[in-house]
This record gives sequence, C-alpha cells and structure tokens, in this order.
Amino acid sequence: MSIANSVGTCTRKCGTILLDAITFMVFLFLDFLDTFFCVIFKLLDKFFEGKASPCYCKSKAELINGDNEEIRGLSETLYRRKNVFREMGFLNFAGKLEYRKQIDGFDGGRRFLNRWSDCGCESCVSWIKDNACQKLHVVVREFPQERSDDSRRESTENVIFVHGFASSSSLWTETVFKNLAGPIKGHDYRFFAVDLLGFGRSPKPSDCMYTLNDHVEMIGKSVISPFQLDSFHLVAHSMGCIVAVALAAKYSKFVKSVTLVAPPYFPSSKDGTISSSMVLKKLAGKRLWPPLAFGQSVMSWYEHIGRCFCFLFCRNHRTWERILKLLTRKKELSFMIVDLTRHTHHSGWHSMHNVICGGAKFMDDYLGILNRSKVEICIIHGDRDPVVPLECSNNMKMKFPNVELKIIQNANHGTVILGRKKEFARTLEHIWASTHM
Ligand SMILES: *[C@@H]1O[C@H](CO)[C@@H](O)[C@H](O)[C@H]1NC(C)=O
Repeated sequence: MSIANSVGTCTRKCGTILLDAITFMVFLFLDFLDTFFCVIFKLLDKFFEGKASPCYCKSKAELINGDNEEIRGLSETLYRRKNVFREMGFLNFAGKLEYRKQIDGFDGGRRFLNRWSDCGCESCVSWIKDNACQKLHVVVREFPQERSDDSRRESTENVIFVHGFASSSSLWTETVFKNLAGPIKGHDYRFFAVDLLGFGRSPKPSDCMYTLNDHVEMIGKSVISPFQLDSFHLVAHSMGCIVAVALAAKYSKFVKSVTLVAPPYFPSSKDGTISSSMVLKKLAGKRLWPPLAFGQSVMSWYEHIGRCFCFLFCRNHRTWERILKLLTRKKELSFMIVDLTRHTHHSGWHSMHNVICGGAKFMDDYLGILNRSKVEICIIHGDRDPVVPLECSNNMKMKFPNVELKIIQNANHGTVILGRKKEFARTLEHIWASTHM
C-alpha cells in the first residue's frame, strides 16, 4: 500500500469517527431538548387545558394494560424510545404534573376537540361542526367513455386513490386526474381520491389512535359503503400503500388490481415476526445527513420536538403560506407545500408510528390473502428513492414473485409520479385495462 493510500484510509477513518462523534452529540442534545419540551408542554397543557395529558415518555406497561384488538394495532415504537435524560430520572418531575387517570385500556387520546397547540382555522376545524358526517374528504370524478355509436355502457371501473404521509388527495387530482389520455374505450371510469384520516381536509379527531384499522375503516365508511362499490382498483403512494394493502385484504373479493408506488414494505423474519423498531431504524435511523434523513429521524424519534414543529408550522400554516406567497410572488402555492402542514401533531405522530412502523407486521398476512385471491399487484418504485429504499420493493418481489415490479430510472420518492405525470397515468391505464381480459 502506498503512503498516499494509507493516508487516505486514515483520513476517511478519522472522518467517520468524527461524524459518529458529532452525530452522537447532536442526538444527545436532542434527547435533552425532547425531555425539556416534555416538561414545557406539560406545564402549557396544564395552563391551557387544565390538565397535563400523558405522553409516550412512559413505557407501554405504564400506559396500558390488557391486550385487545385496539392495542394490537399500536406500534411498539410509540413507547419510550431510548432517551438518556429520561433514564436519568429528569422526568419524575414531569410525571408528577400528570393527572391521575383511571387506566383500563389506553387513554392517550385527548378530551379537547381542538388543542391549544393545533390550528383552529376554518379549513382545519370545519369537520367538527359537521358532527353527523364524520367521513373522509373524498374527491370524486367520473370519466365517461366515448360513445360514438350507441354502445351500451358496459361497466364502470372504480379506482380508489390513497396518498402518503403529510399529503392529500391533491397528489392524484393534480397529476393522474389531469393526465388521462381521454375516454377509455368500453369503460366508464370513476375515480375516488381520499384525504386520509388526520390529513388534508379530512377530520382530525383527537381521541383516535390512527391505527391501520382506523384508516381502513374510514375509507370503507367514506367510499366503499356510501358508493356501494363491489369492484374497484386501488392506487397508493408510500404510507398509503400499507393502508391500501390492508384495505385490499379486507375487500379481497372486490379488488381488481392494486398499484403500489414506493411501498414501505419489510418482510417478516422466519418466525413470522417483525419488529416495528427495526422499521423505524431502517426508515428513520438517527442520521445527520442528508437533511431529509435528519428531519425524518427527528420527527419520528422525538415526540415533543415534533410537537414543537407542528406548533410552529401546522398551527400557523396560514401565516407561512402568506409569507411564502410574498417571497415567491405567486398566487398559489404548490399543493405539495400546502399539504405538508395539514395535520395535527396527534394525527401525524400516531399515523407515522401505528401505520408505517406498526403496520409492517400485518403486511405479509395481507399480501398472502391477496396472493391467494390472485389479485393483480403492481409496484412502481424509483431507483433513487431516499425515503423508502428500493430494497423494500425488491423484497416484496422476492417474497411474492407474482407481483409486477416496475423500476423507474432516476426517479425519487416524489418524481416517480410528479416528474412523469403523463407516463404514470399511461401506466395506470395499462394496468386497469389488463384486468379487463
Ligand atoms: C402465492 O400464490 C402461489 C400460487 O398462486 C403460491 O404458489 C405461492 O406459494 C404464494 N406465495 C406466497 C408467498 O404465499
């Protein structure tokens, strides 16, 4: 080995050690900050709401007892993520602030419809007034077929679209809905794009744990039952894929095809288990770089820092939108920006843990049901996806060889749809048409 080479190796090694040390220090500081905000929020909650509500700084055993369906839907990653300062007993003080509650089952929910730390603007709370109608916001659009001759309308193909984390139905209405090639011969199409529970313009209840089951039930209640669908296709992106697979398994007799875009899939190990903390580490490991990865890890590991961000950005989204419009001199902001803040900390935090991390353990069972029912599954994944690694889709393909995997070159988590809207719409048309045969 030449001297230059060994100097290079040494520099790289030192670099790695230095980076590790800095990473360690930054996350140590964040541990402290989270503990600090835990106390602050306890005091503020007590001040504004009269009671400090419990948080997940406690272990599962301290918060719940019993074991029922609801609890099975909760992710292990919710509870007591390791924090040096908490272990040192800093939180005993915060614990004393908490109200004594009767525990049977779990009371992590809130008693207030709208918390002091959530936005109370018209569009954010409109669902509260409409109490009788606790349904998701659904955008419905019909695309009638060409009727040059008197061809009888054969059938209507229904498609349900499910978006991912911190997104909304706009992801589909602004892309696929606008890029259909035109009437599709022989079939009418009816599209349903939902805003998931807790996101976009949908209700954001404060007493809900946003489990996979909650999301699936709400789609059933808001789309499948009221429109009496007995046959439909599904298209989903990112976190929405987990919801879509669960929904498809529940209605496996009705589903004609499932298209998953960048699904966060993790195969269960040989003994059939999968740990949600493994998913959390894979998708949001404690990393400083790139900034997106850092943001993801902070938002998923630190409950109270996350609440601070939501307090700053989600609660004040109208102000930020005004500022951004001024800065960019545009009348309208991109739906991507607007959708980022349309959730509460409660809905975002629980969906992230209970659906993305906690939902992983149900996936193989659900996919097994779909495999047995011979439901056509197609995966579309960008090969440069930094959010959900391509490895996820490769693993699904390996476990279920019947799924069709389309890898898109040079596309990431967003551009896999947004960077190729027309092509993406063509692919979907092709998938739906192939089930007609
Ligand atoms: C999927 O279904 C096929 C039969 O259609 C079966 O041979 C295969 O074992 C199934 N795969 C899994 C992982 O269940």
